[in-house]
Amino acid sequence: SPASTMYKTAFHFQPAKNWMNDPSGPMYFNGIYHEFYQYNLNGPIFGDIVWGHSVSTDLVNWIGLEPALVRDTPSDIDGCWTGSVTILPGGKPVIIYTGGDKDQHQAQNIAFPKNRSDPYLREWVKAANNPVLRPDEPGMNSIEFRDPTTGWIGPDGLWRMAVGGELNGYSAALLYKSEDFLNWTRVDHPLYSSNASIMLECLDFFAVLPGSNNGLDMSSAIPNGAKHVLKMGLNFGEDVYVIGVYDLKRDVFVPDTDDSRLWPRIDYGNFYASKTFFDSKHGRRIIWAWTTETDSSSDDVAKGWAGIHSFPRTIRLDSDGKRLLQWPVEEIESLRGNEINHQGLELKRGDLFEIEGVDTLQADVEIDFELTSVDDAEPFDPSWLLNAQKQCREADASVHGGIGPFGLVILASDNMEEQTVVHFRVYKSQKNYMILMCSDLRRSSLTPGLDTPAYGGFFEFDLEKERKISLRTLIDRSAVESFGGGGRVCIMARVYPVSLVDDDHKAHMYAFNNGSATARVPQLRAWSMRRARVSI
Ligand code: FRU
Repeated sequence: SPASTMYKTAFHFQPAKNWMNDPSGPMYFNGIYHEFYQYNLNGPIFGDIVWGHSVSTDLVNWIGLEPALVRDTPSDIDGCWTGSVTILPGGKPVIIYTGGDKDQHQAQNIAFPKNRSDPYLREWVKAANNPVLRPDEPGMNSIEFRDPTTGWIGPDGLWRMAVGGELNGYSAALLYKSEDFLNWTRVDHPLYSSNASIMLECLDFFAVLPGSNNGLDMSSAIPNGAKHVLKMGLNFGEDVYVIGVYDLKRDVFVPDTDDSRLWPRIDYGNFYASKTFFDSKHGRRIIWAWTTETDSSSDDVAKGWAGIHSFPRTIRLDSDGKRLLQWPVEEIESLRGNEINHQGLELKRGDLFEIEGVDTLQADVEIDFELTSVDDAEPFDPSWLLNAQKQCREADASVHGGIGPFGLVILASDNMEEQTVVHFRVYKSQKNYMILMCSDLRRSSLTPGLDTPAYGGFFEFDLEKERKISLRTLIDRSAVESFGGGGRVCIMARVYPVSLVDDDHKAHMYAFNNGSATARVPQLRAWSMRRARVSI
């Protein structure tokens, strides 16, 4: 059908057909990036989950391989669910993943590459003594015990890992220790526990150095001054993170804040089950996630596919130690085609500047906004932090403000009936400025029945010092991935404009301002994006 091809992404990872959910066990090994994923070989709906497998040398173009793990043992017959890879000393990768048995009881299983000299590590052999870890203690819930993290080494030379589970009615990041990765014992206290969600899915635990571009390898010694990040999947759809201090000796993670209402999201849009890994080729940490379809499952059956992954991003900690910063890996630039470049634009209240000369369905857009004055900033109300989406709904792009809204209108039909808007508003808080970033999908499509929220997130900004507020948006047919303030707030989204499947599938793109204060655009650059090899 036209929808099947028109909405298919050109450079966001997706298999050629069928259902995909979480990234699982990403790794860089011997020159190759591996992307494993929760995959249904039998159709575009969730079920019969195996580990799909693709490999790449550049994180952009992928080669699809046979599944790495299929459901063929009693302890994974219900599905080979999410897990991680750890590279053991001597360069031995090991997969640890969750398997469900015939009664859907969950346990952790291990697999090793059959032949480590195969550059693609095509075949994986499951350990004979699987499952290596069961939720067999009193007070545990045997159907909520999953998604083991990558392992890390403690000062005692033992491996640690965390598994999401339930203990005495609390959801917890359960902590385990092992000498050989096969025999695990639980540390008497969890790494963390919380009642913010019935389950903490797809945990990720990694170290970061404030202000550094370099990622840290969890299997090596962690330098002084490093902080740790615990990423948790809440309520089957929100990836939040807590920054804290991890005392290696006592195995205790002390979060900087325990107020779960204020936990930042990794991404404020459609972005879940994210996973990071250390890329030893470039010394960086990379994250990607699952982005769902937001059409109906009958639409997915008609399309023959469902689920994409966000574009791989570097992830690091800001110098203030408070926020993670994410940015598309630079390899994306290999897809950039013709470029347009505007300098010194002035956007007055009500201005709409059409960005022409690039492919509006496949583009990478970078725009900087500079304010001529900050006098018009309206006061910030801290209670808004609890519900940025509400703020984006109420103060949409058409609602005139003091500073902003300004931003991009993308995937707009000729008469603007369909449009997706990514924009900022600037508020004055007591100490600083707060910026609201929205990705408003409410008018993204004329098709009824889609999930079209107005996503939003806030970030703090020192306007006097920084002046320029940057927005980068990757437009990839049905995927719109935006980075505000250099990656302080990220918003991944899916849109299905009908104008894309119409005959001439024309879409317009504009920069706009609807605030009292004039916004200067010192620089606007946009590139048409070529198709990557992603769907094979
Ligand atoms: C998250 C999740 C994981 C689970 C996997 C199953 O989306 O529910 O907790 O392991 O998907 O595919």
